[in-house]
Amino acid sequence: MRWNTLDDMDLAGKRVLVRVDINVPVENGQVTDDTRIRRIVPTIEDILAKGGKPILIAHFGRPKGKVVLDLSLRVTLKALEAALGRKVAFDETLEAAESQTDEQRAADVILLENIRFHPGEEKNDPEFAKRLAALGDVYCNDAFSAAHRAHASTEALARLLPSCAGRLMQAELEALEAALGAPERPVVAVVGGAKVSTKLDLLGNLVEKVDMLVIGGGMANTFLAAEGIDVGKSLCEHEMAETARAIAKKAGEAGCELLLPMDAVVAREFKAGAENEVVVAENVPADAMILDAGPESVAHILQAFGKAKTLIWNGPLGAFEIDPFDAATNAAAKAAAELTRAGKLVSVAGGGDTVAALNKSGAAEDFTYISTAGGAFLEWMEGKILPGVAALETA
Ligand code: 3PG
Repeated sequence: MRWNTLDDMDLAGKRVLVRVDINVPVENGQVTDDTRIRRIVPTIEDILAKGGKPILIAHFGRPKGKVVLDLSLRVTLKALEAALGRKVAFDETLEAAESQTDEQRAADVILLENIRFHPGEEKNDPEFAKRLAALGDVYCNDAFSAAHRAHASTEALARLLPSCAGRLMQAELEALEAALGAPERPVVAVVGGAKVSTKLDLLGNLVEKVDMLVIGGGMANTFLAAEGIDVGKSLCEHEMAETARAIAKKAGEAGCELLLPMDAVVAREFKAGAENEVVVAENVPADAMILDAGPESVAHILQAFGKAKTLIWNGPLGAFEIDPFDAATNAAAKAAAELTRAGKLVSVAGGGDTVAALNKSGAAEDFTYISTAGGAFLEWMEGKILPGVAALETA
């Protein structure tokens, strides 16, 4: 796929509509994690350096086409100004953006209010997209993490103005291409998390693309149970047994080796510090639940990492939120980070809990690339075409 980057665009004196994703966690009116805000800074700085005027379009939460005051993007303004070290003007309405005041014209950067306050946004309404297009001369999409949505500001708008990918979008696409598009082999994927049912398409796609698939977290229990292993009180989707067997069969046919836990850390309670023991996978006591992969499983995972050239990771290996059941995730993350630092592995991770788990392990910084995307990363791992990316494609 080909798309323009900021390097291909003439931005001097142009108003640049930049779709960003600053859908950040907020508690008591404060941004609690500004990662997504910091990651858009290079794009905004580059646009300014090229003489353009960035007008930021973003969503916050899911107001469903109505004004919901609690979901105003004003809450991000301070963090945005801090990250940029610049004043940002905030346009509460599109009318305000359409009839700019001197103050707004004077500001370096403009942020529009939550675009999802408008019903036309999620409907990908062409008339609404035209109204947005009239606010700018060029469109830049820097929101990979919202690119799985075909909305007016992520899809239709790209077709109405000269368009390009921002720096973050560019970095995401390049990292993902390196991990699954044309990766250096062997490729190992780690897929964890609670349920097989939420990651069916992802597993189905991966077994055809990677050389080894490590399955961890609650979903590994479903695979074990499908092999006839009694997993006691563990989280398990017994009704997915047939599906799990079908995925294992598909993996076999595609030459992808499945790595399931051969031992497990089990406990009788789901709480931090719960008394626990290590058992082989076949010996999970009837009244216990698997909360983490055991040391032997971890040793096998590290061996797989040692042979791999590329790693793609989504989902924790155990109940990483509660100690000590984060041990397998931490050990694997540290090993991946070390191999990456040594130049032996390209490691890419993303999707919801994954980033939280890797941050907790302290290893995230050494990964080659950590995606800011949740749902978009998963859909991309499923092999789907993301509408926001497709719309940027140049002939
Ligand atoms: C995200 O947080 O993953 C993105 O901002 C997309 O949000 P959405 O799932 O509400 O479209």
